[in-house]
Amino acid sequence: MAAEVLDGKRIAKEIQSEIKQRVARFVEGGQAAPTLAAVLVGEDPASQVYVRNKERACQRAGINSQLHRLPEQSTTKEVLDLVHGLNEDPGVNGILVQLPLPSGVDSQVVLDAVNPLKDVDAFHPQNVGLISQGRPQFLPCTPHGIVQMLKRYQINTRGKHVVIVGRSDIVGKPMALMLANRDIGLGPDMANATVTICHSQTADLAAITRQADILIAAIGQPEFITAAMVKPGAVVVDVGINRTDDGLVGDVHYQDVAAEASYLTPVPGGVGPLTVTMLLENTLAAAEIQQAATT
Ligand code: GUN
Repeated sequence: MAAEVLDGKRIAKEIQSEIKQRVARFVEGGQAAPTLAAVLVGEDPASQVYVRNKERACQRAGINSQLHRLPEQSTTKEVLDLVHGLNEDPGVNGILVQLPLPSGVDSQVVLDAVNPLKDVDAFHPQNVGLISQGRPQFLPCTPHGIVQMLKRYQINTRGKHVVIVGRSDIVGKPMALMLANRDIGLGPDMANATVTICHSQTADLAAITRQADILIAAIGQPEFITAAMVKPGAVVVDVGINRTDDGLVGDVHYQDVAAEASYLTPVPGGVGPLTVTMLLENTLAAAEIQQAATT
């Protein structure tokens, strides 16, 4: 079997054009265009690329973007001062603190300081709690992008065994919470999964991943998932973006797994474009929430 490619680029384009129309209607209704403020601390090359991509995507959708840069040597207090200013600024609807922050900055303290109503990454404990309870205010961008892609390929998660490899706060944990719930706002077919989270300490990992109807790889290890770890006909979603001497590769060994899976996301052009897209969705949602709160 040769897997069908899940074309994240195409789905992202489709969703971005829907968001662009919703932004235009929001502005026609007399509101200011939604505004995203990105905070970039230091010179991490990958982060600079991500932030530039996010700015470009905003521009295409009619969303304003601001970039706030701080030097590598910044203190936690200096980053906090910037975040507090953005929290107070009524012209800023969404705040994104690009991770990773330099080692001298306490990431948890900074992320906890973002106003939950402007928390377009959904990293604030209040938003994590709401996701856990199945009543999200914002859905985190990468997990939300994955569900949107599955939905648009009519791959339901209801009753399926989803195995997630990786327990990060950005992908693994929120993905598990979203899919295990009854409905996180995308319909019952796109939730209600039986979810297993695996990680670096999981014993006999392959025995578990081979049970997956849908396998989500988010571990940050190049080509970690091999064909032997995949059940024939499984749907495989690769969240990894690893820079190697051979270029960009995912967490999945693409060639091998493509022979086993029914659907597979490529890297690049799979999950990545959807992450950026759902940030636009959340920035528009933030502007709508804040408008509703003031009228
Ligand atoms: N770094 C890697 N992924 C992300 C993300 O989704 N949001 C932010 N803010 N930083 C990241």
